[in-house]
Amino acid sequence: MNIINFAHRGASAVAPENTMAAFRKGLELGATGIETDVQMTSDGAIVIIHDENLSRTTTGSGYVKDKTLREVLEVDAGSWFSPEFTGERIPTLDELLDLLQGRETVLNIELKNGTFLYPGMEEKVIAAVREQGMSERVVISSFNHYSLAYCKSLAPEIRTGILYGEGLYRPWNYAATLQADALHAHYSSVLPEFVTDATESGIVYHPWTVNDPERMTYLIEAGVAGIITDHPDVLAGLLAAR
Ligand code: G3P
Ligand code: CA
Repeated sequence: MNIINFAHRGASAVAPENTMAAFRKGLELGATGIETDVQMTSDGAIVIIHDENLSRTTTGSGYVKDKTLREVLEVDAGSWFSPEFTGERIPTLDELLDLLQGRETVLNIELKNGTFLYPGMEEKVIAAVREQGMSERVVISSFNHYSLAYCKSLAPEIRTGILYGEGLYRPWNYAATLQADALHAHYSSVLPEFVTDATESGIVYHPWTVNDPERMTYLIEAGVAGIITDHPDVLAGLLAAR
């Protein structure tokens, strides 16, 4: 089985997270998957940014939910990382889906709907994925597990991944009750015997965020189906050497 090499927020170690530059760089460095985060604007556009607030990663301030798409597109999302990336914008989900057209890349869309619920977000994300014919190559993940169950009820053909840190007992059983397909666990809560039991139940593991090569090797040997990393080049090297 090919292990999916998910570039976390794109190649976020070498380019500003969740920008088109970071996604392109991730693909260049050998990623076979992209992990990204979505929020929703006041006029209902699905945009790519990790935080609810613009201030950490852009020249803007305030909450995405209070801005129109036009306002969100005006801020710079690259200069905080390095002057070389000045001019990078916050992408829309459609732009990222466009970039992945004609490729085999798997797209892991994390709905950031834990703090604000963003009514209608699930429908909009599913519609965008379906319109671009990407249903088979997308996994929708979230820490909001009610939202994932809702996504599955709307779109049974799109995979879902339960995001969690630790503390879930036999999480593959929990995933099955939510009709989820994958466990997006913090790497510290993944043991080889868990991966075996989950896989036997038809649930795969995509642990996050794994940057240490030794931990990557441990998880590869444990049998995970994918790894989410800021360093897709390091993971690609390990996978190629197997
Ligand atoms: O997909 C896993 C990981 O991205 C979850 O944490 O904060 O990086 O979105 P965060
Ligand atoms: Ca994320």
